[in-house]
Amino acid sequence: MPLGPRETTSTGFLPSWVPTDALPPALMPHVEACRALAARYHRDGADVRPWLAQTFAAWDPRGIEDLAQASDIARDGAMSAVSMLAHAFRWGAMPAGDDARALTALDLPLGLAAPLRWLAQRLGVPACGNLYHMVIANWRLPGFTPGTAYSPATLRAEIERTTTMHSWLQGPMDGHLAATLRCLLLTEVAGAEMLPAVMRLGDAALRRDAKETVALLHTLRAGIAEVSGVLGRYMRPQRIAPEAFLSVIQPHFGWGLQQDGLRLDGASGAQTATIQLLDAAFGVRRESAVGAMAMQARAYLPAAQRALLELVDRRAPSVRAFVVEVVGPEATALWNDCLASLHQWRRAHQKRGAMYLRTENASYHSVSGIVAKQDSRSRAAAFERAMEEHVQETIDARLR
Ligand code: HEM
Repeated sequence: MPLGPRETTSTGFLPSWVPTDALPPALMPHVEACRALAARYHRDGADVRPWLAQTFAAWDPRGIEDLAQASDIARDGAMSAVSMLAHAFRWGAMPAGDDARALTALDLPLGLAAPLRWLAQRLGVPACGNLYHMVIANWRLPGFTPGTAYSPATLRAEIERTTTMHSWLQGPMDGHLAATLRCLLLTEVAGAEMLPAVMRLGDAALRRDAKETVALLHTLRAGIAEVSGVLGRYMRPQRIAPEAFLSVIQPHFGWGLQQDGLRLDGASGAQTATIQLLDAAFGVRRESAVGAMAMQARAYLPAAQRALLELVDRRAPSVRAFVVEVVGPEATALWNDCLASLHQWRRAHQKRGAMYLRTENASYHSVSGIVAKQDSRSRAAAFERAMEEHVQETIDARLR
């Protein structure tokens, strides 16, 4: 059950409160359009552009004042709704047509462009969708009141009852989207439990507290094993069908349009904050193409999350030095166990990702562009090769 509003809880990279679609009046047409979206967008012969262009042709600038005065959770809810519609306008239909895939720039209707631009600037993210707003803060759970506090542990316990707050899919495909949502939420639930341990690890190294360092590494080892287990349970064809992922889930996340000379990605798995946290905490190098892509993906995380990850990055070398020089063989072994688990996560993502990409499907395109458009066999091989370098960077972070 949700906690009372006065009780505090640490939700890590998850939203602090149950996501809400009770938005300021200027944004309620956006919520209504989100409710109608799946039936118009996910069907044969669809094109939502005329409908969205008409519904959002105008924008009253006073709506910005509403947004400025809204609570943080309402602003996040607004970003979820507006970016969902912006992506639907960008693609027109799901699966998308060839013409939409060929686009490199696009003018959104004013009623989408204006709030999207303002929200992106306020939240410190690019003006397109991102994983936090399209997935991590885009869920509902019967019995959990929007806008109230909750604990990650209760979200985990109830995970099979979570659904997307705004979905773009209908029928069985919507079930595969829900499984993708649950996989990412459970990853962040484990992250919420590990984040305090990562922060305390930095403090313990500064205080040179060997005993606490060992205890915290135990906590992290269990947390990373859980992250690995979550991927193993959900990233499988029975739960998230390759056809669903490649043709109507992942393509909607992509943006791929130029803005001010830059190509904006949209939402991607590389924006998973918990994986970012683990690379940072254990000082995994990010010099390979995939490592560099993960660093670029940080720009799409809410500003506060990005700042936290930068802090963890800065403290990582002193934690590592303390574990090697002072704490001793037990801590070294635990450190290496943690990296072995993260390696296991990456190996599973690499092998299963390649299995997904081998599925014959012409509509797939990688969000970051790291996997070039090719036939299914060569694109799976290109993905495996690209991921391998970051797998090696993970192994290299072990202590000897
Ligand atoms: C379901 C099938 C999946 C496929 C086919 C897949 C594919 C990909 C691809 C192609 C990339 C390269 C970047 C891009 O083009 O977006 C990538 C990166 C990444 N994905 Fe996935 N992904 C899947 C599921 C997941 C899930 C469920 C998670 C998180 C729980 C995830 C987390 C990541 C991360 C963290 C990266 C960055 C590379 C790294 O840190 O190792 N992916 N994925």
